Amino acid sequence: MTNTNIPVIAIDGPSGAGKGTVSLRVAKHLGWHTLDSGAMYRVLAIAAHRHKISLEDETALATLATDLEVHFAPLPDLSGTQVILEGQDVSPDLRRESSGAAASLIAAKPTVRQALLTRQRAFRQAPGLVADGRDMGTVVFPDAAIKIFLTASAEERAQRRYKQLIDIGIDAKLSNILIEIAERDKRDSTRTIAPLIAAADALVIDTTGVPIEPVVARILERVVH
Ligand code: DC
Repeated sequence: MTNTNIPVIAIDGPSGAGKGTVSLRVAKHLGWHTLDSGAMYRVLAIAAHRHKISLEDETALATLATDLEVHFAPLPDLSGTQVILEGQDVSPDLRRESSGAAASLIAAKPTVRQALLTRQRAFRQAPGLVADGRDMGTVVFPDAAIKIFLTASAEERAQRRYKQLIDIGIDAKLSNILIEIAERDKRDSTRTIAPLIAAADALVIDTTGVPIEPVVARILERVVH
């Protein structure tokens, strides 16, 4: 089976729309692999900080993106992705709003996106892949069999992010998160390269006030066995 014959479900949408949890649950049901592409941008931001690389140094960031030693695996409770950077578990750091904001900044750099594109496509392994991010259905896997655009009101997304952070012991302020989410939405949607936008053939699901399981069920319904 060539790589492009392996089925992909692309799940895109803004921060806090529930992409992570929904993707991991869909993948678990199907026994498929997962790609949390946001985690790639986030860990790159953390690695840049560690290697003292400026977030403005696009060339050095792209080299780091190509060479970075990093491993990803779903967390056992499917609440997110475990990330091992150069042998160290950085998963809690990854969820911080500061990592999200730094990720959003470096994600606007074309050569960084290009370097990560190759790594992202390598996740397409049999029997299938559930990939979540901003441009999974538009740029990385435009031939994905199923494309979903998950969204929710900014207020609800901020609430969810707040709860996630508090649950893992990170101090957070709801009003700050709401502002940061609005800023990040704006930056991710208005950048010239691979902006956050629903693919023309994506099913848009608004998860405001909707629990996770019906959303997972709706996506699974579309998978042809
Ligand atoms: O999904 P997330 O919040 O973990 O993503 C963090 C940032 O990474 C997000 O603000 C924009 C960037 N990102 C991206 O540009 N493209 C992706 N496919 C995934 C994330």
